[in-house]
Amino acid sequence: MKVSPSILAANIIDLKTALNQMDPSVVDLLHLDVMDGHFVPQLSFGEAIAASIADTCSIPLDVHLMVDQPEQEVPKYFALRPHNITFHIEATHNPIRLAQSIRAEGIRAGVSLNPGTPIAHLEPVLDAIDMVLVMSVEPGFYGQSFIESTYHRLDQLRDFIAERDIQIEVDGGITDANIAGLVERGLDICVAGSFCFKTGDVNGQVRRLKSAAGSRV
Ligand code: DX5
Ligand code: ZN
Repeated sequence: MKVSPSILAANIIDLKTALNQMDPSVVDLLHLDVMDGHFVPQLSFGEAIAASIADTCSIPLDVHLMVDQPEQEVPKYFALRPHNITFHIEATHNPIRLAQSIRAEGIRAGVSLNPGTPIAHLEPVLDAIDMVLVMSVEPGFYGQSFIESTYHRLDQLRDFIAERDIQIEVDGGITDANIAGLVERGLDICVAGSFCFKTGDVNGQVRRLKSAAGSRV
């Protein structure tokens, strides 16, 4: 299982310190929450800050676009050569074409679902994607409580994925107390914001998550 700390929960005016602290042999991915003020009410940052982060830090980027009209935003991240670009299924009428355009760049295509979106809505896109990002909070803020129905949604998702080579990522409210149950249900990539940054020792917190994940698998 990989851990992808969400820098939304880091000290944003001292981001360079947080980025420099991260040990690439411990921190697998860096989760970038792009918010446009429309798909979610909040604004975070866009491709310019993401490019500065990519220049400062060698950890592969896990780009999570919480934006309307993702067709216009996705190409802005191609030049950063991220690990993946993930857009929301609720935000586009053409998810298959958009996923194919990401894959055509040699980048993994991810699709995310809000907690209220039926897992079945993914079925038409499953052959065009490499990752599913299941939101376990409503998108917009870090520090919210984990929504328990996520466990059941992962069971449904695994049935839909069947034998396909698709990674399962979960985002929101993950701690050392709930991660083992997620790993048991197929979690491959854990996004964690407040848990990773709350103590000032991001490497230690990532290790804690990995050890809690491993304790029941
Ligand atoms: C929520 C974001 C999450 C969030 C995770 O809109 O997509 O990535 O930053 O933070 P925690 O782990 O604190 O819920
Ligand atoms: Zn996110």
